Amino acid sequence: MVMQHERVSSPYLEGNFGPVREEVTAEDLKVIGELPEGLEGMFVRNGPNPQFDPIKGYHWFGGDGMLHGVRIKDGNVSYRNRYVQTERWRRENEAGRALWPSTLGGPPDPDNPAGPNPANQGNTALVWHDGRLLALWEGGDPHHIALPGLETCGRYNYGGSLVHAFTAHPKVDEKTGEMMFFGYNMLGMDMRTGQQVPFLQYSVASPQGEIVHTTPIELPVGVMMHDFAVTERYSIFMNLPLVFSMERAMKGENPLYFDRDRPSQFGLLPRRASGDRVRWFESPACYVFHVLNAFEEGDEVVLDGCRMNSVDLGALDSRTALNPETKPLIDRDSEQTLYRWRFNLATGDVKEGRLDDATGDFPRVNDFEVGYKTRFGYVARFDGSGMPQSDGVLKYDLEKETSRFHHHGSRRYGGEAVFVPREGATAEDDGWLMTYVYDHNSGDSEFVVINAQDVESEPVARVPLPQRVPYGFHGAWIPEERVTQSR
Ligand SMILES: [Fe+2]
Repeated sequence: MVMQHERVSSPYLEGNFGPVREEVTAEDLKVIGELPEGLEGMFVRNGPNPQFDPIKGYHWFGGDGMLHGVRIKDGNVSYRNRYVQTERWRRENEAGRALWPSTLGGPPDPDNPAGPNPANQGNTALVWHDGRLLALWEGGDPHHIALPGLETCGRYNYGGSLVHAFTAHPKVDEKTGEMMFFGYNMLGMDMRTGQQVPFLQYSVASPQGEIVHTTPIELPVGVMMHDFAVTERYSIFMNLPLVFSMERAMKGENPLYFDRDRPSQFGLLPRRASGDRVRWFESPACYVFHVLNAFEEGDEVVLDGCRMNSVDLGALDSRTALNPETKPLIDRDSEQTLYRWRFNLATGDVKEGRLDDATGDFPRVNDFEVGYKTRFGYVARFDGSGMPQSDGVLKYDLEKETSRFHHHGSRRYGGEAVFVPREGATAEDDGWLMTYVYDHNSGDSEFVVINAQDVESEPVARVPLPQRVPYGFHGAWIPEERVTQSR
């Protein structure tokens, strides 16, 4: 007997947060405006897109991963979207229906005849390293994605040498070719074996794609650690008080809560050092989903990120999102603003403060400068609706302390803007910003290319897409030589 479930309702299943269910391939798309000369490669963006109507509960962070890709080659533009075919996706696909509540969208159910939820949606971000594109989800292994077809080749665990979960936000130092990454485990336990594991582990992969360093880093309690930062010599971990509670999980509530009585801690560790050498700097309680960049300056390590005074993940959870007592994700107290911390290695002091009052997240810099001092940053500005919906892109000049704004237009909303350098560029901001924009007037989506040195102008090119692209998370640009050489 197939159990009938009540339809799950969530604002994250409606409008352009709602899923598309078809995998489309389309060639020779029309371009409005002109694509920059010499620009060839593929823009791919990841995001949640539940394959079937969810059962019991849906959390925006827990939908199946779907990749939306636009390839520009020989003057032609093509589009395709493909699911990240995880084990969970495959099992539900075979069943023809959802078998588990979305991850974070419901408590573990020991009576579920399908068994434990094989959580790992591969839905969050992408990284290119060692000739391979990986789709990422912070609770498990990466998935290897083929280019340009976006087929899932399978889980990728570095020949077994990956011993911890893999953050959605690894950092590639394009100057050395190394990739730094971490994995956290909120329970401090391997669910399959019941064995104790560290709350946090950190690894470095060589330019040849071998994991050459792994070390545990001690934390007092399990926390959700979404991003981190690197500089030329250090990796920076954000131990922020979004704390895991088993008690809440067992009661069927969202297991993560913001404990404003705990401080924020920022841990600096030399790039390949043992975890016991981490040096913690304390600051008032806050949450940071995303870092813009970090760099070293004299005795100081400077970290820029989008900071919130507090965070409530229940706002993204179908079980609580519509409860009037739950705050929207982005209210006064939890709006994300660009913020700077300075950690002084000589004195141990922390200096910190807001860089701007505008609300936004999904910060990006020129990927080739990650870990080194950057002048320009790009942030998706939020529209004030309380939903993570972006009406345009803020370009920050951190040297002049000014910003400029690209508005997507009336009732048009985009997402993270990925910076793509012009080939042979010498200026840091010589290039383009790419994102998908959804038009609430027409119900259509476009791929847009904005001149990063002239952000206030209209996009230089817009490509209307054959289907709607739901709002999602993070994207990557893969230049053409990497697309053709990809593994
Ligand atoms: Fe993220």
